[in-house]
Amino acid sequence: MKLKIDKFPEYLINFTTVDFDKYFLNKNTILDIGCGEGEFIVGLASLYPKRQFIGVEIKYGRIIKCLKKAHANKLHNVKFALCDATLFTTKVLKSNSINKVFINNPDPWPKEKHQKNRLVNLELLTGIYQKLKRKGSLIIKTDSNEYFREIKRTILKTNLSPDKSIDLLDSSIPLTKFQKFYKKDDKKIYSIKVLKK
Ligand SMILES: C[S@@+](CC[C@H](N)C(=O)[O-])C[C@H]1O[C@@H](n2cnc3c(N)ncnc32)[C@H](O)[C@@H]1O
Repeated sequence: MKLKIDKFPEYLINFTTVDFDKYFLNKNTILDIGCGEGEFIVGLASLYPKRQFIGVEIKYGRIIKCLKKAHANKLHNVKFALCDATLFTTKVLKSNSINKVFINNPDPWPKEKHQKNRLVNLELLTGIYQKLKRKGSLIIKTDSNEYFREIKRTILKTNLSPDKSIDLLDSSIPLTKFQKFYKKDDKKIYSIKVLKK
């Protein structure tokens, strides 16, 4: 039986055959970690055809939706990895290869006993620092004030530096699926931008 995921091989990163030098090195490459169903990254890839986008998502069903969206929009500048984001960032990506990383609305795991499952931790942030190019940036957004404060404390343990500048890509970005929900409920979104100096 043919898996649905095989229908769109051009959009899926195949870990055994992908040539990272060809696809990502010497390009302006943007990573969306935990990209969900892909509306944010597909929106960005449509707005910025000269940049290269990578979405990483751990859930099979969501990746299928990402692939379908990329195909429907006839994009040539986006690929998706069905993978754990920490593994992908620390073990798959090459050092100094990424221009910008977005982490939009990582699962907050509000119960204390579940907080060990949180995606944004020292291992991921250290991996992102290594993979960013100089002057590359990381933007994190969440609706959880408590998670946001934890993220800021963890950032202090890394070499990432606070950055207040806003470039075109930060200001003209589409809302993610979750941000649309938050907007409807008038929820505050906390965001931070940090830089590899
Ligand atoms: C709350 S959703 C946000 C989705 C999207 N970024 C948005 O804002 O609409 C969090 C996403 O992170 C994904 N995720 C959770 N842990 C992950 C991991 N270890 N690696 C990759 N993706 C992960 C989930 O499957 C989910 O799609």
